[in-house]
Amino acid sequence: MGRSASGLGARIDAAVSGAIDRGRAMPAPVRLAEALHYATHPGGARIRPRILLSVALACGDDRPELADAAAAAIELMHCASLVHDDLPCFDDADTRRGKPALHRAFSEPLAVLAGDSLIVMAFEVLARAAPRDPARAAELIALLARHSGMPHGICAGQGWESEPVIDLSAYHRSKTAAMFVAATQMGALAAGQEAEPWGELGARIGEAFQVADDLLDALGDSAAIGKPAGQDSRHGRPNAVAEFGVDGAVERLKSILAGAIASIPACPGEAQLAHMVRAQAERLTPILGAAARV
Ligand code: IPE
Ligand code: IPE
Ligand code: MG
Ligand code: MG
Repeated sequence: MGRSASGLGARIDAAVSGAIDRGRAMPAPVRLAEALHYATHPGGARIRPRILLSVALACGDDRPELADAAAAAIELMHCASLVHDDLPCFDDADTRRGKPALHRAFSEPLAVLAGDSLIVMAFEVLARAAPRDPARAAELIALLARHSGMPHGICAGQGWESEPVIDLSAYHRSKTAAMFVAATQMGALAAGQEAEPWGELGARIGEAFQVADDLLDALGDSAAIGKPAGQDSRHGRPNAVAEFGVDGAVERLKSILAGAIASIPACPGEAQLAHMVRAQAERLTPILGAAARV
């Protein structure tokens, strides 16, 4: 993705680090302050803020401070969800991003508190940016809340795991795709565009991402993916590989990705954005290769 990707990476790092550093200002409990840094540095692929800023740029990015705040907010929320997801009461995962999961490196109480703090911080970042454009900031806060909580956000997604019967498509839509819908819609909103037309692109990228993650979980090895593989079958979680088989899941992934590019709304940076989606799809290609070998 070349220069523009590293430019986005720098924007995202500055925005996330700025928020985390504010939350670690002393006096504060030192271990919790360290845990906040641990949960967010080094980051993973930072795909959600990358999509968010790509959409903002495609829409003109006329309020970059607001877009940066939105990018930080969505990444903080995502990191919080991973810290909580790895806890023994959820997936009981010992590793994340190639290092011990936060509750293993610190403790369970600190993992609960770090996740809570990151969630609060995500909204605080947006509130702090509000004086720039109160109307847009209020909508950004509402969008992030909608895609994080109940009834359709990450909380709902994780909540499906406690139901006797799980609706796979609602589960994936809320657990994973919601944050991608938030990414495209918040990017558009930060740049002063209507959010609604951007929902389909986010939903399609999110669906593809979850299918890819299910394939990685089934076919990848823990060292390569930096987190435990085989979690879905270990916990009996519904997933695309169990539902459609490996070949079926691969076919599904390809067709969703093709649809994603076709669903990009008309905007000044449409071609750039299609390039970004293709680049993200290429990032998923090793999974397709691994699947073909099975
Ligand atoms: C992992 O997300 C969790 C899912 C929603 C499947 P990512 O693969 O984006 O995690 P990081 O941030 O890059 O580590
Ligand atoms: C995590 O989903 C998605 C969240 C909402 C936290 P998974 O449990 O499937 O993702 P990984 O495999 O742990 O990253
Ligand atoms: Mg989970
Ligand atoms: Mg998990």
